Amino acid sequence: EKKHPVLVAPVPTKHDLATGRDPARVKIFDTTLRDGEQSPGASLTGEEKLILAKQLAKLGVDIIEAGFPIASVGDFEAVKTIAQTVGCRDDPPIICGLSRARKPDIDRCWEAVKHASFPRIHTFIATSDLHMEYKLKKTPAEVLEATTEMVSHARSLCEDVEFSAEDATRSDPEFLYEVYSRAIAAGATTLNVPDTVGYTTPDEYGALIRGIRENVEGIENLTISLHGHNDLGLAVANFLSGVENGARQVETTINGIGERAGNAAMEEIVMALQVRRQYYASKLHLAQNSFLTNINHREIYNSSRMVSNMTGMSVQPNKAIVGANAFAHESGIHQDGILKNRLTYEIMDAKSIGHGDNSLVLGKLSGRAAFRARLTEMGYDISDEELNKAFIRFKELADKKKEVTDWDLESIISDEVKQL
Ligand code: KIV
Ligand code: ZN
Repeated sequence: EKKHPVLVAPVPTKHDLATGRDPARVKIFDTTLRDGEQSPGASLTGEEKLILAKQLAKLGVDIIEAGFPIASVGDFEAVKTIAQTVGCRDDPPIICGLSRARKPDIDRCWEAVKHASFPRIHTFIATSDLHMEYKLKKTPAEVLEATTEMVSHARSLCEDVEFSAEDATRSDPEFLYEVYSRAIAAGATTLNVPDTVGYTTPDEYGALIRGIRENVEGIENLTISLHGHNDLGLAVANFLSGVENGARQVETTINGIGERAGNAAMEEIVMALQVRRQYYASKLHLAQNSFLTNINHREIYNSSRMVSNMTGMSVQPNKAIVGANAFAHESGIHQDGILKNRLTYEIMDAKSIGHGDNSLVLGKLSGRAAFRARLTEMGYDISDEELNKAFIRFKELADKKKEVTDWDLESIISDEVKQL
């Protein structure tokens, strides 16, 4: 018998209560440091991950997936350090690590995240016929058994456990419902529905989320999460459809970096929910003008610049929200309209995402305080040792140039942090 997928008021989690965040919001699970780092050529050092994690916390993300601890000693240490620092500050995000549905992975993950005030273990297993037969070489019955055993094991260590059915959108829905029911019975608290190969479409994905809400035993008080890749350029559209159908967590990366064509871009989904907040507030049965996420929009541009700088992956000029041309107007007709009233051709203000907030000009007469202040404005929370080295480089450059730009500062920081 099917249950009607009415959206119930979400039960606040311990993290919601401790941080005063609205339980009805769409939670932003940032995976820049895990799936984003899986972009070809985008590997990050531990120091870079820590700087980015501090910025993600400032941005207001709810969960940081800091890495895949069993993958390497370096990644284990990076996740642990982030858990011990960013995960223990005031108003901390949840710190999460990824693990396959295997005991050694889960144990290693727990050793890294357990230091955080709010740790999470994220465990996954593939559920499509293709993946089960060729990749896992497991029968559906074995996958069901592994789900029960490994989610129970994760739950015996950590009270916050996310379970993902990899390649969910190409899995048999009836089997998927069974896997998710098992995961819930074993103690999962968030169920993630990955579109691992970016194959689904908005209508299909929305229907799948609705199907899960209708058919999975015990789903009422759990968070359904969305995870999607951009192979067909549909990841953000798919997420909006998933949110309309009851999902309350989205897994995103800054600038949409990630495997192949990347993941759903954080800035795009967040600004879609912000710019169209009245529309989404009514769809989600929230008060008009509610903030739909906990994101501090003014930190979006800094975060984008920092990720691009640290990963070496430049942002295409016409990229939505954070591309160099996103707020540029070229044609005479558009320029004329903008001069008369900006709303003619702009649906959001560049300043609302922190673009063009720069108030300090740095040159050879600037002192250490102004230098630090600008770096802080740009989102760089660096140690005194890093600052001292960077300041020497800045002075050398300022002697040769009239004005030292943000781009110059980014390259100085990037060089110094890499050398540590
Ligand atoms: O794309 C995917 O399926 C993943 C899972 C590990 C969540 O990244
Ligand atoms: Zn992924």
